[in-house]
Amino acid sequence: MRLLVTGGAGFIGANFVHRTVARRPDVHVTVLDKLTYAGNRASLAPIADRIEFVQGDIADAALVDRLVGGADAVVHFAAESHNDNSLADPWPFVQTNIVGTYALLQAVRKHEARYHHISTDEVYGDLELDDPGAFNESTPYNPSSPYSATKASSDLLVRAWVRSFGVRATISNCSNNFGPYQHVEKFIPRQITNLIDGVRPRLYGAGHQVRDWIHVDDHNSAVWEILQRGRIGQTYLIGADGERDNKSVVQLILEAFGRAPDDFDHVTDRPGHDQRYAIDATLLRTELGWEPEYRDFRKGLDATIEWYRENESWWRPQKAATEHAYVSAGEQVI
Ligand code: NAD
Ligand code: DAU
Repeated sequence: MRLLVTGGAGFIGANFVHRTVARRPDVHVTVLDKLTYAGNRASLAPIADRIEFVQGDIADAALVDRLVGGADAVVHFAAESHNDNSLADPWPFVQTNIVGTYALLQAVRKHEARYHHISTDEVYGDLELDDPGAFNESTPYNPSSPYSATKASSDLLVRAWVRSFGVRATISNCSNNFGPYQHVEKFIPRQITNLIDGVRPRLYGAGHQVRDWIHVDDHNSAVWEILQRGRIGQTYLIGADGERDNKSVVQLILEAFGRAPDDFDHVTDRPGHDQRYAIDATLLRTELGWEPEYRDFRKGLDATIEWYRENESWWRPQKAATEHAYVSAGEQVI
């Protein structure tokens, strides 16, 4: 199989490429990645000689047409992915997440390639903290942020290209990932690297918001199942029953560093902050028989902390600029 992976130098995409190279020697991987601030060639360095790497933009129709023409299947991870950035400047989100997906869809339509679209649970908006429910494949779209609105838009383009043009596509909407190679702007790596630097973790607002954490390898094992056995046109939700509120995640990280449970700062809350995400992955589990491997959040978190301790050279170049951007955006201790 000739597989084109967009965004393969980003967090989830790089983990997907590592997994694919390790487990599927029959698959030839080409990565297309623009190497934005979030992309890092170093994430692919250990397997650089096993893959083809193309630096380029998914919105570049001619480039995308050429690469898709040489592929049997496309897994589309590339995106602007950070909510806070989308509040500061939504335009790159519209351009990459919507226009970029359009360019890929036109190419897979022309070349009749199989297409898997990586999306997020945030397209469904949020749940109240006291709501016992969870998102499923029938939940109406109701995105809150510019990021999630552009991801919702891209999902709808995929659905239209399936129905109108017969594109062979599947979609997955996953909850919050954690694990190695995640950019230090994101919640868990930010707090880990702060603590390595002797800085207190920073919790938005009261920290009562809930996220449904899944290890990145479990997300990627589900993507492989869907790519191979998913029904064309079907959406699958991916989640591993990992609900935790932000404050208790910070306290687990503090505990791993031997620090007191109140040794963190409350900072300015995110405007429009989604309260709770929760995934009902029954369809994925029953139809495709998928099960997560990382059932113990604390163990996965400890391994992630260890990875950041051992791979400082990977994250250090981004750390100061990332913290500076948060301060410039107005983040303050409250
Ligand atoms: P990331 O920000 O770590 O990586 C994104 C990658 O896309 C980077 O390598 C970047 O260089 C590349 N990219 C950005 N714009 C591009 C463009 N125009 N052309 C080519 N490459 C471009 O993101 P991530 O956290 O790995 O997320 C990957 C995908 O998974 C995204 O589609 C995101 O919406 C989705 N997702 C993420 C999570 C999560 O918890 N991180 C959860 C569910 C879904
Ligand atoms: O649900 C899936 C989504 O998860 C993905 O689609 C996004 O690409 C991914 O970035 C993630 O979005 P979140 O906004 O949930 O993730 P983030 O890591 O930015 O924040 C997680 C929670 O932690 C959120 O409630 C905000 C809070 N937070 C974040 C940071 C960076 C803090 O309390 N402190 C922080 O310093």
